[in-house]
Amino acid sequence: MAAFLDSVPISGIIRIRDMMYSVDKPFRLDQGDVSFDAPPSVKDAMLKAVHDNRTHYLPTNGVPRLLELLAEKLRRRNHLPVTGPEELMVTTGGIHAQYLACQALLEPGDEVLVPDPCWPPTASIVMTSHGVPVPYTLDATRGWQPDVAEIESKITSRTKAIVVCTPSNPTGGVITRADLEAIAALAIKHNLWVLADEAYEDFQWEGDHFSIGSLPGMYERTIALHTFSKTYAMTGLRLGYLAIKDKTIRMRAHKVLLYTASNISSVVQFAGIGALEGPQDYVEEFRKELFARRQIFHDGIVTNAKGILTSHLPAGAFYNFVQINPEWQSPLKSEHTSLSWAMTEYMIKAGRVGCIPGADFGAKGEGYVRLCYARDRDELKGALESIGKILTRT
Ligand SMILES: Cc1ncc(COP(=O)(O)O)c(C=O)c1O
Repeated sequence: MAAFLDSVPISGIIRIRDMMYSVDKPFRLDQGDVSFDAPPSVKDAMLKAVHDNRTHYLPTNGVPRLLELLAEKLRRRNHLPVTGPEELMVTTGGIHAQYLACQALLEPGDEVLVPDPCWPPTASIVMTSHGVPVPYTLDATRGWQPDVAEIESKITSRTKAIVVCTPSNPTGGVITRADLEAIAALAIKHNLWVLADEAYEDFQWEGDHFSIGSLPGMYERTIALHTFSKTYAMTGLRLGYLAIKDKTIRMRAHKVLLYTASNISSVVQFAGIGALEGPQDYVEEFRKELFARRQIFHDGIVTNAKGILTSHLPAGAFYNFVQINPEWQSPLKSEHTSLSWAMTEYMIKAGRVGCIPGADFGAKGEGYVRLCYARDRDELKGALESIGKILTRT
């Protein structure tokens, strides 16, 4: 059974990260990490936990106070009809929450409809759970919206779930409420689950974030996937959570949590309590700053990469998925046949600018590169100047 893992891909994001280590003074616009540091409420709570000797085993699903706060947050912010903390589990980041969900839900050969383009681990996690990812298109010409009729056309007797990721990594697209309602109707009609990846729920620039699990009849068929990584600048601390109403699926997820982690790091869970109990104005400051950087970065691409890269202001998340002029040719002797890999290689080798080739996010991402604008303003400025220089040479 283990050999099937040989065919599960490792995301290009990791290959790029390794390439970036050999670059002198790099501009790290490749990874989805914010430049901010975690708020003092997070650090203080973690240090206090250390000094209070909170270093022992914990209940597998999480510290009761953290689970209570999260249940309350999901009810208040996401409008999910969560009955109580027993429906929740904390995980080692959002990626682990996805892993638990897929392991708990999928039988071998079950199909999962996954957006294309999509954050690469989503499809790979489906595969590690012996499932089959089936892409559905996000349409660049319509702000990366899904076509609900196309989603329905891909449903077969093997389909188990639909992944909905809004705001989206890599596109920055936000699914409209009408489309979320239509996807929910499909899920109900065809008796499907929805995996709702809400990693960027606090970074939506157009309209308010809306959780599909809050629609009537949806919470019981939705697995809500959340993370502290982006909202509280806690990427390295690794704290995520998920909510599952269904007792059977929840018990399966609980076993996966138990046998992969026993419990999530105690001090990190206390950091999570600090994040939720502490002032939320840090999140508001992060939001405001990212909103400003979105415009700065967009304007910089429009000015510095004219004719070669096309930018649209993203509606959410903190990525700009820029389109590469198909006529562009790399001045490097590139071994890559893919335009997005050739551009990525050129950006890194000639400009020291990290980015991720669109092809890594799925077939529909080819012709684009993803740049993260959550880096600090100096780094963005340096990257934009460098892009300007190297692209006027081509
Ligand atoms: C769409 C999406 N979902 C989930 C995650 C999981 O994040 P983490 O495991 O760092 O909490 C990420 C991280 O980049 C993401 O982009």
